[in-house]
Amino acid sequence: MFSKYKKPASATPKVAKAAAAAAHQPAATPPDARPHTVLRKPMPIRTAAEPGSADRDRKRKERLGEIKIELHRELLENLNLAALEHASEAELRTEISSIAGEILEQKGVVLNREDRQTLNKELYDEVTGLGPLEALLQDDSVSDILVNGPQQIFVERDGKLQLSQITFKDEKHLLRIIDKIVSAVGRRVDESNPYVDARLADGSRFNAMVPPIAVDGSLVSIRKFKKDKLGIDDLVNFGAFTEEMAAFLQAAVATRLNIIVSGGTGSGKTTTLNALSSFIDNSERILTIEDTAELQLQQTHVGRMESRPPNVEGKGEVSPRDCLKNALRMRPDRIIVGETRGEEVIDMLQAMNTGHDGSMTTIHANSARDGVSRLENMIAMAGIEMPLKAVRSQISSAVNLIVQASRLQDGSRRMTSITEITGMEGDVISMQEIFKYQRVGLTPENKIIGHFTATGVRSHFSERFRMWGYDLPASIYEPTKM
Ligand SMILES: Nc1ncnc2c1ncn2[C@@H]1O[C@H](COP(=O)(O)OP(=O)(O)OP(=O)(O)O)[C@@H](O)[C@H]1O
Ligand SMILES: [Mg+2]
Repeated sequence: MFSKYKKPASATPKVAKAAAAAAHQPAATPPDARPHTVLRKPMPIRTAAEPGSADRDRKRKERLGEIKIELHRELLENLNLAALEHASEAELRTEISSIAGEILEQKGVVLNREDRQTLNKELYDEVTGLGPLEALLQDDSVSDILVNGPQQIFVERDGKLQLSQITFKDEKHLLRIIDKIVSAVGRRVDESNPYVDARLADGSRFNAMVPPIAVDGSLVSIRKFKKDKLGIDDLVNFGAFTEEMAAFLQAAVATRLNIIVSGGTGSGKTTTLNALSSFIDNSERILTIEDTAELQLQQTHVGRMESRPPNVEGKGEVSPRDCLKNALRMRPDRIIVGETRGEEVIDMLQAMNTGHDGSMTTIHANSARDGVSRLENMIAMAGIEMPLKAVRSQISSAVNLIVQASRLQDGSRRMTSITEITGMEGDVISMQEIFKYQRVGLTPENKIIGHFTATGVRSHFSERFRMWGYDLPASIYEPTKM
């Protein structure tokens, strides 16, 4: 067969025998251990994998996996990679399937139609994309991908983490894919430089850590980029907060309060920040600073910045603080910092205090109070020698509102609190909660039962809201009667 994508005939590459994979038997489930106390909830009973069809299926998959690895290596040796860059997808698919067909024939391997189709698709993904990860990246229902070594890939769908059927062949295979991703953005990951942050071509956020720091094989986390970010209406429909809370937040953003979105990992901070930004007037000049550009602002006048970690030689770093300092010289109306986690906190608070009201950021914290302590710690860590009272007074005059995002135990994400900072009482920052999520129980399916309610406290900013034309009815501050 003649093909422009096939390398000119040379010595046929030696075919290494695929090592017979050690049969991977599922661990026997221990006998159901009796709980010691009746107060403990019964644990779900795990049954051992059914032998028979499941076993055959696994063997078939293993065999396919071995054939694939071998074919992939041969393909890479046979394909003319330079020509491949200019090939159309259809051309490449045809090419791969025909070369794969030839190799299979040479080896005397016969596959059914379905297996051949799977094999061709997987080979295509290996050659052009990110191998086993490719299918998950293309699956829109998957929002997070978490790899714990080659044999375990968890995915998040609808707020729930589940183990996927997809695996890598072995650690080498996983490392090769990681390498492909990071080398595409000019970074390197190896024993001496064992972790890396990157952004995939589609905008997804990628982090990897490789052995020996990752003990049981490389760890990879991917936060998929959502083309359509959840807006305020989506979040209200999902029950993340109520119409009343949305109206309050609109007034807060439009009247230029400084807002911090606080929350744990993956609790929905960035999503909330992005949704809040939709309340900013289109005439304002907004500058955003992020580690990985995730925010999608709808306004016309937006300048986006992405900080940069140092390169392999430890040079070229542009920290979030550098970006922030520079942003202050770029005449912004508002500054949005994707996440404040270090010394940039000083400049952030200063910006909030000096004419860039309406600035917003997120922090990692579990409650509003906790969020303030985090800010205090960050200031202390930045090496600023200031008495605690002065630090607190700086925070209390800079920050107006703390919005708490939480991922609850049933996977749902909710805005569990909206708290105002009202000033100082002695040495303590005074705060008042305006809205909260009241949990009342748990269904037998472990779904949380609860409702949002106002706390009965009228906003400290209600007069400001009124002056700016956001005259919220007093009823939104009344607690929900259940
Ligand atoms: N209320 C919600 N309902 C359903 N899904 C949500 C909700 N809020 C956020 N998500 C989804 O949850 C995932 C995590 O959200 P997001 O990136 O905003 O979290 P984060 O707190 O910024 O995470 P990180 O700490 O990793 O930066 C995203 O896929 C997002 O689309
Ligand atoms: Mg985030």
